Amino acid sequence: MGRRIQFEIFRFNPQDPASVPHMQTFFLEETQNMTLFIVLNRLREEQDPSLVFDFCCRAGICGSCAMVINGRPGLACQTQIKTMPDKITLHPLPVFKLIGDLSVDTGVWFREMYQKTESWIHTRTEVDPTKEEARMDNAVAEQIYELERCIECGCCIAACGTARLRPDFMGAAALNRIARFMIDPRDERSEKDYFDIIGTDYGIFGCMGLLACEDVCPKNLPLQNQLGFLRRKMGITALKQIFRKG
Ligand code: SF4
Ligand code: SF4
Ligand code: FES
Repeated sequence: MGRRIQFEIFRFNPQDPASVPHMQTFFLEETQNMTLFIVLNRLREEQDPSLVFDFCCRAGICGSCAMVINGRPGLACQTQIKTMPDKITLHPLPVFKLIGDLSVDTGVWFREMYQKTESWIHTRTEVDPTKEEARMDNAVAEQIYELERCIECGCCIAACGTARLRPDFMGAAALNRIARFMIDPRDERSEKDYFDIIGTDYGIFGCMGLLACEDVCPKNLPLQNQLGFLRRKMGITALKQIFRKG
């Protein structure tokens, strides 16, 4: 017989004026290879069909099952119950708009952030589809691919002290995205263009550098390196601007 696990789950429906935020207790017997994703589905099927949470891929790819698990942001589908204590507490990710219980709207947050950071290739080069594609250096392509692995789960934003204090802070995911375009030779933006986007306290200069973001990233993105890279680049750009003015 497996362990009897206690789950303390945050419940609240912001659409229902009668709903009051509270924690609800559930119990479930542990089974082999049980993940938190399996737990939540079983609780909804067997004990409370009103429980709200998100999932899609079950494989750490879609990013939709992120939540705060015993105080730490993580993916429910990648959380093995055998690695957890007998009591597990679940909250929705902070910072994002709550849809209900453990479900938050990360989509709107990421769309707004990517619009603010102009998260697309800026080029005046006309593409001729009849010509052979321009080749990219393999090492650069791999570097870009590494940063493109972000699944927009929101864990880094939820763990970030600055994002919790400042709702407009771009957060590690958006700054990582900017770093991705800075190393892309197809993007013709100047350092001054990037500075205008991220050279503020809502961008790279608001980052406290304590790296909770990298600690919780389920895809192990090298966020520390990217934040350091941006801080150096934007610091130099700021100095150049001061000396030009002086
Ligand atoms: S290092 Fe910067 S982006 Fe990462 S959690 Fe800390 S303040 Fe947020
Ligand atoms: S950088 Fe990591 S933690 Fe942040 S949204 Fe992307 S995958 Fe999630
Ligand atoms: S369900 Fe897709 S990442 Fe967990």
